[in-house]
Amino acid sequence: MTELTDITGQATPAEPVAFPQDRTCPYHPPTAYDPLRDGRALARATLFDGRQVWMVTGHATARALLADPRLSTDRTRPGFPAPTERFAAVRDRRVALLGLDDPEHRTQRRMMVPSFTLKRATELRPAIQRIVDDLLDAMIEQGPPAELVSAFALPVPSTVICDLLGVPYADHEFFEERSRRLLRGPTADDIQRARAELEGYLGDLIDRKARQREPGDGVLDDLVHQRLRTGELDRTDLVSLAVILLVAGHETTANMISLGTYTLLRHPDRLAELRADPALLPAAVEELMRMLSIADGLLRVALEDIEVAGTTIRAGEGVLFSTSVINRDTSQYEDPDTLDFHRSTRHHVAFGFGIHQCLGQNLARAELEIALGTLLRRLPGLRLAAPADEIPFKPGDTIQGMLELPVTW
Ligand code: HEM
Repeated sequence: MTELTDITGQATPAEPVAFPQDRTCPYHPPTAYDPLRDGRALARATLFDGRQVWMVTGHATARALLADPRLSTDRTRPGFPAPTERFAAVRDRRVALLGLDDPEHRTQRRMMVPSFTLKRATELRPAIQRIVDDLLDAMIEQGPPAELVSAFALPVPSTVICDLLGVPYADHEFFEERSRRLLRGPTADDIQRARAELEGYLGDLIDRKARQREPGDGVLDDLVHQRLRTGELDRTDLVSLAVILLVAGHETTANMISLGTYTLLRHPDRLAELRADPALLPAAVEELMRMLSIADGLLRVALEDIEVAGTTIRAGEGVLFSTSVINRDTSQYEDPDTLDFHRSTRHHVAFGFGIHQCLGQNLARAELEIALGTLLRRLPGLRLAAPADEIPFKPGDTIQGMLELPVTW
């Protein structure tokens, strides 16, 4: 475990920081975390209920701990950190895949991997391109101006994940609204109801698929016919998997498209560079992933005492990973606050790391490259249609992204 040494000798800071916090600028970490960016690997954070947890801020330590089986993602375990009251209200049940430790996690992950390989994502590119073009055709016909979140950023991944899973896109308003409430509440009651409604909806869909003699061609159809029928997955697990795939499959990518567009429009030189050389697109997407770190606050609980960076994380203590701070560690990235398409973004943790590293990352990259690339190509005059600092973005207790994005061209 020699990797656990990205510490420059400091003890953890005396003053814990509150977590979560709203970002001041939607593409930078909260400014209150600036003091933590001095080379230390760990800090202390206080949650909404006054409880203190470890906050991982150093890059090498983050990668080592994210790969460490002594940290669990099982949210039903005592001590698992709840960053908000809402989250605390839904800790009662284990969630599929993301909430399982090995060996159960490995069994479920193996079932899912064939549907999310790079090859599969590459095969999906023409279909993604069609979806993107159709949405842009409609937006261009109706505008300018347009509200980019509802006209483009959300429907692109929502349509893609529906096609992939075998969920009817006609129901998108239903599941998008429930997904939003599941992630943002505002109350614990909202989040519990949203979860129950999504489970009810996907449970009915799975039952209908199970009754079909000829399976459809979605991932859920495959799971029903290859895993449910054989008893490898029970219905509760399959419904939980379907919820996570549907929610993770559209919310995150939608936020990357909206916040990625906003960030590019706020960096005209980088935008011009990308327009002049579209071959930079994959590097630009990766750099935006690093810089925006939209899934900011990965959660774990320690199962055993862990010696790390000169400290001991005790069994039962909560640990959270601030990906936005980790992805700006100066020991890994030179001048990390600058958007730079020519840097090496190797090893960023915006998709996590270790056994839970994002299952959908190949798909997400394909969607982002096609969505951002086509948007910039087809709308050369794209610009914000409101003062940049008046455009609302999401608060810090959730996946980061724009609430609205008024644009014109
Ligand atoms: C740009 C968009 C995305 C971002 C930033 C993102 C981010 C992440 C992160 C950080 C994790 C790890 C969480 C942890 O360790 O606690 C994760 C896991 C996961 N993501 Fe994504 N994700 C994105 C897109 C997607 C898509 C399109 C899907 C498609 C289904 C997806 C499905 C999942 C699943 C199922 C897991 C859990 C994997 C496991 O536990 O084995 N994600 N994602």
